[in-house]
Amino acid sequence: METETVNWTRKHLIGLEDLSRQEIELILSMARSFKSTIDRSRKKLPALRGKTIVNLFLEPSTRTRVAFEVSAKRLSADVITILGATSSQVKGETLKDTALNIEALSADMIIMRHSAAGAPLYLSRMVDIPIINAGDGAHEHPTQGLLDAFTLMEHLGSLQGKRITILGDILFSRVARSNIWALTKLGASVCLAGPTTLVPDAFREMGVDVCHNLREAVTDADAVMLLRIQMERQSAGHFPSLGEYTSMYGLNKGRSDWLKPGAIIMHPGPINRGVEIDSDLADSDRSVILNQVTNGIAVRMAVLYLCMAASEPVAGALPL
Ligand code: CP
Repeated sequence: METETVNWTRKHLIGLEDLSRQEIELILSMARSFKSTIDRSRKKLPALRGKTIVNLFLEPSTRTRVAFEVSAKRLSADVITILGATSSQVKGETLKDTALNIEALSADMIIMRHSAAGAPLYLSRMVDIPIINAGDGAHEHPTQGLLDAFTLMEHLGSLQGKRITILGDILFSRVARSNIWALTKLGASVCLAGPTTLVPDAFREMGVDVCHNLREAVTDADAVMLLRIQMERQSAGHFPSLGEYTSMYGLNKGRSDWLKPGAIIMHPGPINRGVEIDSDLADSDRSVILNQVTNGIAVRMAVLYLCMAASEPVAGALPL
């Protein structure tokens, strides 16, 4: 048994833009400890026993919602999930009233996904309990950025000087933004790739490179992270058709010959097979896509523990 000293003061996790490198490394270090508990026959830790966590998902999700639920239960919290379509939001209740009522029902934390950028920050100013952002519009998806960094470090070691290419719909991607903040703070060199309409030059202001040629973007990469074209966030035609996007920027087994021998393929999911990536590559030995999903449990256990501990006493030192 060993314990970790928690040097963390944030009760909300809204995004990675505000986090220091040390704070990101603390989360990843704690996640490594939690990951070592996942394969045990007795998986539950008592750390959040007696706490109630509400999963408020007002946009669709599979991976993030389930991973947060599993993570909270592994820490012995009680979990209640509220989905937009079955909540009183459909009767016109405001987001603020929804959150105030959840707080009045004795919840200790809200994990929320919302289509509007800024919704979690807004709620963090309305309630006293911790708010964890599980994705807000095209703004941030901090736990995805953290689990991607965690997975990259498992495969590449330190990210200092490593080249990571993020390819696809950058403009509308909260995953891209959270990854840019996390990876650059951890010392990686980030290249954003795709058509000019989806990867505008303005992104260079975030300290990254921009490239519109697929082959150039992937040849020196240690990892290539593919992103789905988010049709639900696009109101204008940013490319002629999905077929034409695939012909120029889709990654397949043949084009994977352009990658360095040890380079890995990542994708936050959901995958649109045959559009941004072909099945034979998504399911190949280069792919760490399902590792990303599994790592989401350990990373979210770390986030839940740290933010809850910063808000109110938890069940003593962390037994690992
Ligand atoms: N990566 C991700 O956010 O997936 P879900 O939309 O299924 O949660």
